[in-house]
Amino acid sequence: MAVNPPKIKVLLSDNDRLKKLKQAFIGKYEESPLFYACAPGRVNLIGEHIDYCGYAVLPMAIEQNILAAVSVNKSHIIQLANTDPKYKDFTVSVREITIDPKNPQWHYYFLCGVKGVQEQLSLSSLAGIRCVVDGTIPASSGLSSSSALVCCAGLVMMEANQKSVSKVMLAETCTKCERYIGTEGGGMDQSISFLAEEGTAKLIEFNPLRSTDVKLPDGAVFVIANSCVEMNKAATSHFNIRVVECRIATKILAKFRGLEWRSLQKLGELQTQLGSSLDKMLDLVEEVLHPEPYSKEEICKILGITAQQLCDSILSANTQHEIHFRLYQRARHVYSEAARVLQFKAVCDSAPADALLQLGELMNQSHTSCRDLYECSCRELDQLVDICRKAGAVGSRLTGAGWGGCAVSMVPTERRDSFLQRVKERYYMPDARREALVKQSLFVTKPGGGAAILTSE
Ligand code: GLA
Repeated sequence: MAVNPPKIKVLLSDNDRLKKLKQAFIGKYEESPLFYACAPGRVNLIGEHIDYCGYAVLPMAIEQNILAAVSVNKSHIIQLANTDPKYKDFTVSVREITIDPKNPQWHYYFLCGVKGVQEQLSLSSLAGIRCVVDGTIPASSGLSSSSALVCCAGLVMMEANQKSVSKVMLAETCTKCERYIGTEGGGMDQSISFLAEEGTAKLIEFNPLRSTDVKLPDGAVFVIANSCVEMNKAATSHFNIRVVECRIATKILAKFRGLEWRSLQKLGELQTQLGSSLDKMLDLVEEVLHPEPYSKEEICKILGITAQQLCDSILSANTQHEIHFRLYQRARHVYSEAARVLQFKAVCDSAPADALLQLGELMNQSHTSCRDLYECSCRELDQLVDICRKAGAVGSRLTGAGWGGCAVSMVPTERRDSFLQRVKERYYMPDARREALVKQSLFVTKPGGGAAILTSE
């Protein structure tokens, strides 16, 4: 059954943030907002860089979100403002929306959502809106602030145009349209933003998109710690290089097994076609791929294609100049990480006496694999993860795209306060910049709810 995002009635007098946002809106546009929309950020507990390979991931929504106040008019003009003065006002006609992937500014994420809904619903024209956005998710920190903004914008446009779209369809639309900004994300962030429910993490599976509750074990809390190294995945090519390396690995493995490799794009699709277990896929990687990096020439030779064909049909716009591709390491990470997600869920479901230790171990293995095989960590994140483990976490790992951003740790409840104190002392206090950010950088989190429309009474 298709479920639409909920519409929740809220009492403005009970909610300081909404009250302030309403004031900011009135100050800006001299009218009251008609409705509000919110979409949360997320923390991924396990399953990193495998969603775009077709594999299930296990995130939960966090309490921090993007909140937008909106009024609707007939002007066909979108007027955007942000409560953070760092993000400048922007106005555009709905007929003239352009998104420049070379210059990922904040309003482009909003426009991705606008464009997505316009295309999904084949709307020849869209209502005009005035909107003020207020965000509490730290930007470029691996907690999905950009996808939350895309999702919030999608929801705003749906409501402003009085359309009714299911959460699954909105999640798929927002996944697709965020690619206008240039990164080839896999859908985890948008899916959890719409499908999250308070109190439960989710196993998110793709093709078709669906989610299953995962009850996290009693006796532990999840703590997010920001390394304070910013990573904007749209501003670099790290992310897309990984997507492309996985794609090339898929094709080489498929060709080796005599499959029609040209149409295969994802390591997960390859597994489905071969009907093999994840262990067997790891064996195949060992048998076929070598640990040394592949050059473009070698890839072309193996696949029997020209350099031009490689550039046109396999590489993406911002990976054309890449010269080395580590296929063995990336494929090994993906198949072993996909297995860890299933094990994590199985441990949560069966809740054995040593559940915390088992889950912690899986998180630690995931970090090692991200660091050594996928090479998406960085020195500060490795140091932070190490500090978190020594401070009492049973498991700690980078979360999100990596190359900076946050670590997530599982900490036995009774060690929570001493853990927070130690991490603060060892990672944040020795550095003035980090120390200044510690309040919004180190916090306990629990599974939050998904995107919603809010109307005030
Ligand atoms: C980003 C992408 C997601 C996912 C993660 C890594 O957040 O948007 O789709 O690939 O990185 O797990």
